[in-house]
Amino acid sequence: MSDVQSLTTTALADIAAAPTLEALEALRVGLLGKSGRVTALLKSLGSLPPEARKAAGEGINRARDAIGEAIAARRAVLEAAALAARLASERIDVTLPGRDGGMGVVHPVSRTIERLTGILRGLGYDLADGPEIEDDWHNFEALNFPPHHPARAMHDTFYFADGHLLRTHTSPVQVRAMQGKTPPLRVIAAGKVYRSDSDQTHTPMFHQIEGFVVGEGVSFAELKGTLKALVRAFFERDFEMRFRPSYFPFTEPSAEVDIAWQQPDGSTRWLEVLGCGMVHPNVLRHCGIDPEKYTGFAFGLGVERFAMLRYGVNDLRSFFDNDVRFLGQFA
Ligand code: FA5
Ligand code: MG
Repeated sequence: MSDVQSLTTTALADIAAAPTLEALEALRVGLLGKSGRVTALLKSLGSLPPEARKAAGEGINRARDAIGEAIAARRAVLEAAALAARLASERIDVTLPGRDGGMGVVHPVSRTIERLTGILRGLGYDLADGPEIEDDWHNFEALNFPPHHPARAMHDTFYFADGHLLRTHTSPVQVRAMQGKTPPLRVIAAGKVYRSDSDQTHTPMFHQIEGFVVGEGVSFAELKGTLKALVRAFFERDFEMRFRPSYFPFTEPSAEVDIAWQQPDGSTRWLEVLGCGMVHPNVLRHCGIDPEKYTGFAFGLGVERFAMLRYGVNDLRSFFDNDVRFLGQFA
């Protein structure tokens, strides 16, 4: 009986001090398991004289119950502590601010289009649109490029097998916007154009803004005044600008406009930003407008060239690499 007594005393102390659920389970197996010490005592009852068995059996059963209860009580305490620790470590503070995913920015080419069309709309122009996949008539023929005309070679055109093409300029929108209309007309169109072309100032896809005015007595002086006002409003300063005589089949006379472009080494280079001129009588005729009564001017500008000059970007191709470190600078 004293064996049982001391076993119980040590067991209860060990159980009360068990630091973890694993340690407690090891104690349970060592005491009450198949080959545990209490189990061994119960098994040894058979070797006692019959008159001693009853009292010894009752003593061992009481010890077993006391140990079992102590284990259950300790387990409840340890389980509650484990749950509390887990709740504390897995706690989510819903009041913390969210992680910043970063804001996108408007692409510098889109910003430039928005600025330029905004200025022109302020001058009273209406917005028109045309398809990027054009037919030969709108892109060339109606603009006074007859088949095999040498000026077609100025445009490195992407053709489809069926004779359609990717428009090489926004000028076909002139034709679409003039047909069936009676002047006065004041129209702009912005969009993508395509040419097989690539270097520091040329990309195979780029953007143009077309503008034209048709009415009675429209003059080259108004064209010059309009373009000077546009450049001044866009750059918010006077840029050195030159009108250089040029040739387009759909305008006569024609000019290209260059802007003085400061190079990183301090030198100046002229950058061509647009083509323009007085709408050719043949184009007006193709659109059903009487060239004896009406005259018009037109211009087509390179959006990326304006963006390069405004933002000081030296290589036009960087607008289309879509490197977020580059684009993020235009926030
Ligand atoms: C034209 O495309 C004429 N349609 C412009 C025009 C319209 C003239 C109305 C008269 C009346 P040009 O090929 O020069 O012209 O192109 C116009 C502008 O687009 C150029 O001045 C330049 O700023 C820009 N540009 C031309 N090719 C590229 C290219 N590959 N990459 C980027 N910009 C270009
Ligand atoms: Mg040109």
